[in-house]
Amino acid sequence: MPAISVLFVCLGNICRSPLAEAALRAEAERVGLDILVDSAGTGDWHVDCPPDPRAVRQALRHGIDISGYRGRQVSAADFHRFTHVFALDGENLKNLRRIRPSDGTATLALLMDKVPGREGNGVTDPYYGDEAGFAQTWDDVTSAARAIIAELSSIRG
Ligand code: 4NP
Repeated sequence: MPAISVLFVCLGNICRSPLAEAALRAEAERVGLDILVDSAGTGDWHVDCPPDPRAVRQALRHGIDISGYRGRQVSAADFHRFTHVFALDGENLKNLRRIRPSDGTATLALLMDKVPGREGNGVTDPYYGDEAGFAQTWDDVTSAARAIIAELSSIRG
């Protein structure tokens, strides 16, 4: 089991957090960092469902196949299983603060807080928009993934 484990959480676990999961996996692989990466939703509508087809297409444009990912709902136990939990937006952060057990060991933060100049921002939900929204999501989660990797690499030395 890798020492660092990261969970990304959005609302449905079919658009933003699967793309964040894919982006961090890709960045970790690029630098040879062994970390466990997963994603989940605060909602339960898409449990066991594949990612949104637009998210699958967006990841494929970057050479990553996420069609095998399946939706799951975040649970209190995730705050013991993972070392880092990142909320994709403020609403999800609020809900995660409620779900987090008082003895939870994971750090909980807003994802875009990791990106200089984007602190406090949420990753906009692309679900009700068009394909371009998914490209924006990819850019946002990739910036964040790179910032996370830079931070973890500096800790590792
Ligand atoms: P996500 O997007 O939170 O980025 O996965 C959504 C997916 C589904 C719904 C909302 C947001 N929904 O209402 O079903």
